[in-house]
Amino acid sequence: MATEDEAARRETAEDIAVLVLDNPPVNALSHRLRIAIAAGIEQAMADESVSALVILCAGTTFIVGADITEFGRPIEAPSLQDLIALIESAAKPVVAAIHGNALGGGFELAMACHARIALPSAKVGLPEIKLGLIPGAGGTQRLPRLVGVKHALAAILSGEPMGAATAKELGAIDAVAHGDLRIEAVRFAQAIVADGQPLRRVRDSDGKLRARGEPMALFEEAKALYGRRAKGNDAFKGALAAVHAAVTMPFDAGLQRERDIFAALLGGTQSKAQRYLFSATRAAAKVPDVPAGTATIPIARVGVVGAGTMGGGIAMTFLAAGLPVTLVETDRAALDRGVAAIEATLSASADKGRIRPEDVGRRMKRLSATLALADLSNCDLVIEAVFEDMALKTAVFAVLDRVAKPGAILASNTSYLDIDTIAGATTRPDHVLGLHFFSPAHVMPLLEIVRGKATATPVIATAMALARRLGKTPVLVGVCHGFVGNRMLKVRQREANALLLAGAMPWDVDRVLTDFGMPMGPFQMADLAGLDLGWTREASQGETIAERLCEADRRGQKTGAGFYDYDSGRKGVPSSVTERLLLELREERGLARRAVGEAEILERCLYPMINEGARIAEEEIVARASDIDVVWVNGYGWPATKGGPMFFADLVGARAVLDRMRALEAEFGSALAPSAALIEVAESGRSFTGAFG
Ligand code: NAI
Repeated sequence: MATEDEAARRETAEDIAVLVLDNPPVNALSHRLRIAIAAGIEQAMADESVSALVILCAGTTFIVGADITEFGRPIEAPSLQDLIALIESAAKPVVAAIHGNALGGGFELAMACHARIALPSAKVGLPEIKLGLIPGAGGTQRLPRLVGVKHALAAILSGEPMGAATAKELGAIDAVAHGDLRIEAVRFAQAIVADGQPLRRVRDSDGKLRARGEPMALFEEAKALYGRRAKGNDAFKGALAAVHAAVTMPFDAGLQRERDIFAALLGGTQSKAQRYLFSATRAAAKVPDVPAGTATIPIARVGVVGAGTMGGGIAMTFLAAGLPVTLVETDRAALDRGVAAIEATLSASADKGRIRPEDVGRRMKRLSATLALADLSNCDLVIEAVFEDMALKTAVFAVLDRVAKPGAILASNTSYLDIDTIAGATTRPDHVLGLHFFSPAHVMPLLEIVRGKATATPVIATAMALARRLGKTPVLVGVCHGFVGNRMLKVRQREANALLLAGAMPWDVDRVLTDFGMPMGPFQMADLAGLDLGWTREASQGETIAERLCEADRRGQKTGAGFYDYDSGRKGVPSSVTERLLLELREERGLARRAVGEAEILERCLYPMINEGARIAEEEIVARASDIDVVWVNGYGWPATKGGPMFFADLVGARAVLDRMRALEAEFGSALAPSAALIEVAESGRSFTGAFG
């Protein structure tokens, strides 16, 4: 009989015991649940009237994994491994009945069962790699035995779950239940009993390890396929090694190897960073003064003003989420170009198999294009993405205010400009905010939601909910020049430029930052964006290297040359022209060239960013320092294994960052002066993020 504090109910259906796990909200494998599972299994095995056991879950899902709040604490018995041993060695069949998600430890437990049955909507997977870990309870040993090395590597290295149909086809589950899961699982268990065959223990099923092709070649293939992530990623290397052990070692030795790798990853800083980010992302979704449940404004139709790089990407984001979009431009040619670019991007996605071919037409059908802002009168939300020019933006907002219906939200995608000034051009400043997407807008997960001083609470709640609907990661930020991301990026760019004058070459700086794990360095990024943003030949003073490059018609990737020379595949190589222009500039300024080391490049690029981040947190532009990390990881590709700039500051120690900033200030001047906020955190011995206690 179930008692109140047990996380599972024990029920029976004819001769089958049904253990219903009930640990809301997601049946995480907490200590309490593990005790209840062990008790349920033991009781079913001891009860002579029971011939098999079905493990089923209450609520919306099967077990979604470990209780991550228990990470870092000693595991209290019974451990998941204990449960798995208990199930696998049971004398009577144990069947996992899966609905919702069976993820991580949940899927590992299911794989230890003698059979698995799932609803068609169910998903199974091993997402541990996303937290910098590998499965630690036999997942890397059992999945290859169930589905073969190739598919196991794909699932473990990507962390992506598979649907029931695929899982059945590959052998990860045995049956799909098209009716009532409980009834079908009981029948399935009865059929196994009636069959009378020896119980199938996955640990003993080695057939697929050898069956498909040459397993060792599959490791090389997987490395090539998922290679980008492999660079410096311990969990990726660990996962490969663990699956390799499944192929080359006896089961128990492989299990031990998996456990050792898991323990090393769990104790390392990469996984700590990724688990921290998981919590930081959740925290960022909460706004202290906007309570959950705040009423939101229904958004059924969206307007986008400007069909350039960002407007097009923003439109595609909404179209993908099923929302109709009206796109506005100033002239027919620009409008046609914008629409054609959207269609071409969607078609390319379909060609690459990222969306279904029929989605191209479906999405295009939801898109209307017009030259009249007045056509936005039926939109619930309008996002402006015209040129970065305050006079233009305020003029556009004044018109939008007149044409948009009462209660419609007006948003700007501005990179730097003051949302309050923009809101001031309207009679509805409470319905104005920034929705700052990152390029390419349909791909990058971050959405900086900029709160103006008058932005109403329901408008913020609507924007936060909208981000989730779009599959974006929202971070609420306050008004300041460049908000969080670009404000810090600007500081890094300033220092990167200073490093060039000191003696480094652009490719030296970029290499140090890409070795650190950034997807590109500051000069690769500048070439991609175009060096002529805000530059004109008439006004050019030739004072900076970027200006001199523009004067030489080297305006970035789009002109085939910028800091780098580009081939037709847009692959950049170091340029002797850039080198000469830089040497000339240094000479004219009377600057002696000195060797600039890697440590200096890294510290000079990152520490001033941290310094600025400290200021941003102190000014309460963000609700918490960890929001800054969510911005940098999701908007600029800061490596998740390094947590974000503020986590990194805590890893290095605020004291060490402060000491280095003081030295940089002494050498290079007041632009590098440590902020009061950095000094305060360093001297009080506090940390920015709390990730290190
Ligand atoms: P873009 O130059 O590619 O596109 C701007 C478009 O706006 C042009 O097609 C132009 O014809 C159109 N436009 C100008 N005035 C208009 C008006 N009155 N009505 C309708 N359309 C008008 O510029 P991009 O890069 O798309 O930037 C747009 C905004 O997004 C800027 O505020 C920029 O700072 C911001 N942003 C840009 C990012 C980037 O990486 N490019 C990233 C995030 C924000």
